[in-house]
Amino acid sequence: MANPFDKVEKMPPDAIFGVKELFKADADPSKVNLTVGAYATNEGDELVLNIVRETERELTADPLLTHSYLKITGDEEFINLSVRLILGENTPAVSEGRVAAVQTLSGTGALRVLGNLMTRLFPGISVYASNPTWGNHRAIFQTAGVGYEQYRYWDAENRCLDFQGMMEDISNAPSGSVILLHACAHNPTGVDPTQDQWKQICALVKEKQHIALFDSAYQGYATGDVEADAFAVRYFCNAGVTVMIAQSFSKNLGLYGERVGCASVVCSSAASAAAVKSHMGKIIRPMYSNPPRFGAAVVKRILGSPDKKARWKEELRGMADRIQEMRLALRRKLETEYQTPGDWQHVTSQIGMFCYTGMTEDEVRRVIEGHHVYLLGSGRISVAGLNTSNIDYVAAAFDSAIRGSGH
Ligand code: LMR
Repeated sequence: MANPFDKVEKMPPDAIFGVKELFKADADPSKVNLTVGAYATNEGDELVLNIVRETERELTADPLLTHSYLKITGDEEFINLSVRLILGENTPAVSEGRVAAVQTLSGTGALRVLGNLMTRLFPGISVYASNPTWGNHRAIFQTAGVGYEQYRYWDAENRCLDFQGMMEDISNAPSGSVILLHACAHNPTGVDPTQDQWKQICALVKEKQHIALFDSAYQGYATGDVEADAFAVRYFCNAGVTVMIAQSFSKNLGLYGERVGCASVVCSSAASAAAVKSHMGKIIRPMYSNPPRFGAAVVKRILGSPDKKARWKEELRGMADRIQEMRLALRRKLETEYQTPGDWQHVTSQIGMFCYTGMTEDEVRRVIEGHHVYLLGSGRISVAGLNTSNIDYVAAAFDSAIRGSGH
């Protein structure tokens, strides 16, 4: 009997995790991993934050530690702390109980729940994402059945924000569209609007009666300060724009594989927040029933203790600072030491975990094949993968590939 799966064709690897797999399979001892946005120490090791280790130990020593199911919508205390982290303690939406929020499988899960919420409540609605954006956004929304459009964002020639193009495209989107914005530390470009530009975007989104959907995966990584990095989200929310938020604790607490996140919708009354939350529960139940417990318990304990929270913020600043040092070092090497053709000031003007190098596909191929330095096909590097031991090797590889491709 013919097996119906015999005709299935293999899909291409993931544009981000697929390159990491290539890195892992490479036996060359000098190989460097600048692929996935995951923090590494100056020794090149993955980092479990001290505050996370300490909290884990407390949790596992607690005789009341349980493995029972969480509610479909997750742990309420975790959700409240998570919402306060992004919206602030004094935001009226929080104090008035107008935020419908659920615990999710990190930022991806939050975006997916919100995507499904859109198709459930507003069939035919489209989301407008920056061009370029995180490699998973399109698939998340399309899989959820949401229309997917793009607005201009990156000015490739000048390696900066195409603010005018962005504003024009947001203005031309049909009223009531969902505008997907990166709360801070834009992935992949590392270029955020200025505060003044955020204010103009906010006024336009409000005028057009769009919904702002903030993807907040890097709170604390842009400036090293979680409060400053929440500026845009808080500003939009307080300006009365309809706001949705997808939060991830993968990067800022280093809880990648624990899948800890939160999806929020800011409503105009507590009653409508309760109604919206009930729909989120109906989306979650048939998808994965209820979220995992342990990672959220860690986050809850840290955010709920002023002392632990302060120590977390210190560690977070340390990670952001090391990334900043690596940006400076890379720029210095390319500009001064190697005098690599091109302008490299964007390496330090971009913020967050990523640098959008501007390297062409041919240059990227040369860097990977010729030097075993792995980066995304778009030219994005995760700056967290650089350290004092590999920075010279990487700069030399970039220089050689750029000159080799005809510069
Ligand atoms: C990245 O962009 O590298 C990270 O957000 C990891 C991921 O899930 O793609």
